[in-house]
Amino acid sequence: MPHDHLVAPSILAADFADLAAEVATVEPAVPWLHLDVMDGHYVPNLTLGPGTVRALRARTDRHLDTHMMVSDPRAWAQPFLEAGSDSLTFHLDTDPDPVDLVHHVRDLGGRVGIAVRPSERLEQAADLLPHVDLVLVMTVEPGFGGQSFIEAALATVVEAHEQRAANGWAWRLEVDGGVDATTVRGCAAGGADTFVAGSSVFGNADRTAAVAEILTAAADAVGC
Ligand code: DX5
Ligand code: ZN
Repeated sequence: MPHDHLVAPSILAADFADLAAEVATVEPAVPWLHLDVMDGHYVPNLTLGPGTVRALRARTDRHLDTHMMVSDPRAWAQPFLEAGSDSLTFHLDTDPDPVDLVHHVRDLGGRVGIAVRPSERLEQAADLLPHVDLVLVMTVEPGFGGQSFIEAALATVVEAHEQRAANGWAWRLEVDGGVDATTVRGCAAGGADTFVAGSSVFGNADRTAAVAEILTAAADAVGC
């Protein structure tokens, strides 16, 4: 396994009126937080902007894994990185020159990911796979938290894992959407190492236990 397993709680499922306190409940258990940025255009929902990232940055030193569900990620790269995002993951077909966008984000000091939706094929990201730090396989269609895990997306996880191994790439393989202590098993068995979890973490009164359950199930699924 190229990377240790980690859980990135999605704050979309947290209480937005009390974000700092919510983050404090998961911080002891996780190295990353997942921030879902939606622009009301790429997806039919609006969530958070650079101002929220800046406010969170002042309260946490965790890696801010920023998922850009926006139609123009190039325009937003600098504002989010300046606000404190550590990585930006953008979607296919949102920029005319995605390889250049990867290098642009790196030049600005960020790490970069590419996201593949359940309705898309990994092949569509082929040009980017040698260049990115993270591949995000969506296990729901993006837009909302609390949706049911789409099992068919596991085929993309397996394909990504195989291509990563065959080419010696070092990116993290992340899954996002409907991930809990049950669905994580197939993700981990397929080769995913980075598990975004919103409802299954923030919906549990004991956040540390929720993260531990996901990690235990993932470890069990890969036999360690
Ligand atoms: C969906 C987002 C996810 C979402 C996951 O568009 O990208 O990160 O917050 O939430 P759960 O874990 O509740 O499916
Ligand atoms: Zn997300």
